[in-house]
Amino acid sequence: MALLQAAPGMNDVLPAEAVRWRALESRFFETAARYGFREVRTPLCEPVELFSRGVGEGTDIVEKEMYVFEDRGGRALALRPEGTASAVRCALEHAVLEREPVVRWAYAGAMFRAEKPARGRFRQFHQVGAEVYGDGSPAADAELLDLLGAFLRALNLTAFELRVNSLGQRASRQRYRDALVAHFSSARESLSPESQARLLKNPLRILDSKDPRDQALKASAPSVLDHLEDDDRAHFERVRAYLDALGTPHRVDPTLVRGLDYYTRTVFEVVDTSGSLGAQDALGGGGRYDNLFSEFGGEGARVPAVGFALGLERLLLAMPQTPPAGAFRVAVVAAARESDTAVLAAALCLARELRAAGLETHVDTRFVSPKSQLRRANEVGARAAVIVGQRELETDKVTVKDMLAHAQTEVPRASVAAHLRALAGSPE
Ligand code: HAM
Repeated sequence: MALLQAAPGMNDVLPAEAVRWRALESRFFETAARYGFREVRTPLCEPVELFSRGVGEGTDIVEKEMYVFEDRGGRALALRPEGTASAVRCALEHAVLEREPVVRWAYAGAMFRAEKPARGRFRQFHQVGAEVYGDGSPAADAELLDLLGAFLRALNLTAFELRVNSLGQRASRQRYRDALVAHFSSARESLSPESQARLLKNPLRILDSKDPRDQALKASAPSVLDHLEDDDRAHFERVRAYLDALGTPHRVDPTLVRGLDYYTRTVFEVVDTSGSLGAQDALGGGGRYDNLFSEFGGEGARVPAVGFALGLERLLLAMPQTPPAGAFRVAVVAAARESDTAVLAAALCLARELRAAGLETHVDTRFVSPKSQLRRANEVGARAAVIVGQRELETDKVTVKDMLAHAQTEVPRASVAAHLRALAGSPE
């Protein structure tokens, strides 16, 4: 029988790597908390309609990449391809904006898109994200980007570039859309078939095309920034001014359009510039989406919103590989034969006390010889071994072996934890 394997593009994370994942997520929530963001958790599956309406019918995500299935009650559900639409649904469902005028939420979790797997591109991937509801000011955009920068710096990531653009609101967007359609229609036949199809459905997406046939017309395309209405232009200028005031370097990229339809005004991407990510160099992206609440909840639900998400796998690929700090580990060695359950029980009790005292403690419960238990202690990286045998039970003392100095000491049972903690604090 063939060995069972994980589905393509869906990865296991083994313990040595999982430590890095957990550290990354903790660092994200710590940093976000300092900016007033609190964690929210939403379901992995949502009604398909949430994403087809939220992310947009004409997007690659909705058209080609969603995992859609029917549940046992005949409901059409999708594995979430992103977190923003879910978080907005959640905020509306729980009427959180009736209790707080401004809501700052952070999240982490698995997302699913049936893309062609490649380095940095998976079908189950993970994001950390942050969203602000109820604040339409340009300063909110800048502060969100400040959180993004603070988080990346906390990871010791320095080789990245922040690209910003503005897509304006409906009126600006319509003007720009018309200008783009006019521009690309002038040489429609030279476009790739995919871009020809996008011309009427979603002409902005042509700017995202990597097809060589589209590059010439793309390069001469009109700039969105020349089609912004005055209030949209003023918003973007203020975002940039606040970014400058906060010392956040950024580059204006008028071709940045993003692959999701809900954006209004500010959009941005953070791109890795170290080269370690190859073609999938977008570490994260986001922007303002002032119409999504009313899209889901009606005009009465209008709430300005802005957010970002970063891909965890990509962050891990881009991060410097610092070896994890070795934890202080202890092995309790039971010098016992199979019949000697009292000694093993004493070893288990001691291990439990040491764990309660905050020490990572290993016990071998297989009744193997003390010699092979000490070998195993070495393998798990134990700094000290505590030997418990019949003699130790009788004298109420145990033998502590310093695995690094190869020195042994007799220690009263009651002070083992203190002794080990002192050893943990001593330089290696
Ligand atoms: P997005 O640009 O689609 O935005 O995804 C954000 C990040 O998730 C990407 O920059 C990338 O790092 C990671 N990512 C996306 N797809 C994959 C994949 N197939 N494999 C690995 N990593 C991937 C959003 O999802 C928006 N919800 C961001 C947002 C939040 N906008 C407003 N608020």
